[in-house]
Amino acid sequence: MLTIEGLRKEYGAVVALQGASLTLVPGTIHALLGANGSGKSTLVKMLGGVVRPTKGTIWVDEQRLEVGSPAHAIHKGIAVSYQETSLVPSMSVADNVLLGIEPTGKAGYVAQRSLRERAAEILDQLGLNIPPDVPVGELPTNIQHLLEIGKALVKRPKYMVLDEATAALRREEVKRLFSIVCSLRDEGVAILFVSHRFDEVYAICDRATVLRNGAVVGTRSLSNTSREELIQDMIGRRISLEPVQQKTGTSFKKQAVCLKARSLTNAELRGVDLEVSAGEIVGIGGLQGQGQTALLRALIGATTVRGDLETDGHQGLFRNPSHAAGNGVRFISGDRGREGVFGQRSIYENIVIGRIATFPLWKRASQRGENQAARALVEQLKIVHHSLFQEVRGLSGGNQQKVLFARTLASKPNVVILDDPTKGVDVSTRMEIHRLLRNLAGEGVGLLIASSDDEELAEVCDRVLIMYEGQIVRELTGDLQPSHITKASIEGAQSEKGKGAETRADSL
Ligand SMILES: Nc1ncnc2c1ncn2[C@@H]1O[C@H](COP(=O)(O)OP(=O)(O)OP(=O)(O)O)[C@@H](O)[C@H]1O
Ligand SMILES: [Mg+2]
Repeated sequence: MLTIEGLRKEYGAVVALQGASLTLVPGTIHALLGANGSGKSTLVKMLGGVVRPTKGTIWVDEQRLEVGSPAHAIHKGIAVSYQETSLVPSMSVADNVLLGIEPTGKAGYVAQRSLRERAAEILDQLGLNIPPDVPVGELPTNIQHLLEIGKALVKRPKYMVLDEATAALRREEVKRLFSIVCSLRDEGVAILFVSHRFDEVYAICDRATVLRNGAVVGTRSLSNTSREELIQDMIGRRISLEPVQQKTGTSFKKQAVCLKARSLTNAELRGVDLEVSAGEIVGIGGLQGQGQTALLRALIGATTVRGDLETDGHQGLFRNPSHAAGNGVRFISGDRGREGVFGQRSIYENIVIGRIATFPLWKRASQRGENQAARALVEQLKIVHHSLFQEVRGLSGGNQQKVLFARTLASKPNVVILDDPTKGVDVSTRMEIHRLLRNLAGEGVGLLIASSDDEELAEVCDRVLIMYEGQIVRELTGDLQPSHITKASIEGAQSEKGKGAETRADSL
């Protein structure tokens, strides 16, 4: 059994965790829930020994865990898959996965070999078929996250901790991970599972502990706890789970087209036509990996593509993302670590950079004006912080994502293109972001949003395009339901008969 007792962590004046206690029982999956910045990752890092508690004790099988010692945590059977991963980008896949476990036994090389075999077996279970000598930094984010999980599994943990391990994964990868996790549970491993996705939590977890502002609100058995109760624990009040926006929906009156693409074609796209009007939110759905990300990248000039593009005041394809940004077309990625925030810069700098970069010198607002604008956005987005001038890397993951939004909003865009924008964002912030997207549309901005979450698409979009193998095969309008989008995605994969057809979602 693993017991956490009165764990506290202070970062200067910030209290990240204020005396948290919980117990992990062998053979169970225990969820750790809480809003962005509530202290989940801080607790996880103390379990892994990479952060030293200010106070408190962790007991593993009746013995005290040495604080701040990753080696001792591993020795006691604790393995952690970290939210922002612990991989070394310049090192190979094999070296990363085996990092931190030294081969034991007299015949070192034999042990080394069996370790490598074990690593290969685990990567195979995870569905990873990558050459072991490739530097990890060259791999896509979802693969890096799978490796992070693999790295934990290789240690044969008795206590396995997964901090938002699924946030970057594709649906089929999550399924595979869950079957591994469930068989570990059946073998008697205790698992701590951190996620913002309730469907995942209800699918595999037995119990849930909720943190709010660094304190434990309570631990509940999930079989007799509702989603609403958990959310109330998380944010301290009731919120309606009904979508908040008033969608323009079918009554959407076409305004001027602000983004028009014709015959976009490259290795991943097969002649995509697309139009987004001012004030409209267009979703891109479909099974994963059907060209959604490729399409977004092509539109902002991040990849080479053939075809035509027209935006408000600009004709032709963009040369690169800053060319697009300069013409009022902004991109927000769910992959904040890689192409989003500048971790070592302040919140302030991260927000104003987008604004300043596109302004001619003579138009740049005064420092003071920038300051106020940034402050207003930080308030509006409820970014949990202690100073506008603190480094962004000191923020929780979800709050870093909000900084990206603040930057985009500060730049007053005409078109915003979003790739899985609420990845790793808690429920109430997710609703906040959805409201924000509606407001942006209300101000006449055109939005194009790809999401792996059909619920999100149904909630926020006026129209959803379904992609299959690099083409748009369907368009859904009317009363959008998540199940309709999922169904259309699967049908898109089954046949291309529906190609080009417009389907009223309510007729599905
Ligand atoms: N290295 C650090 N320096 C200063 N403050 C920090 C540091 N790490 C975390 N914090 C603060 O501690 C609090 C808890 O952060 P933590 O990362 O544990 O949240 P979280 O619950 O994991 O959130 P998320 O769901 O967004 O990942 C936040 O207010 C954060 O800003
Ligand atoms: Mg976290």
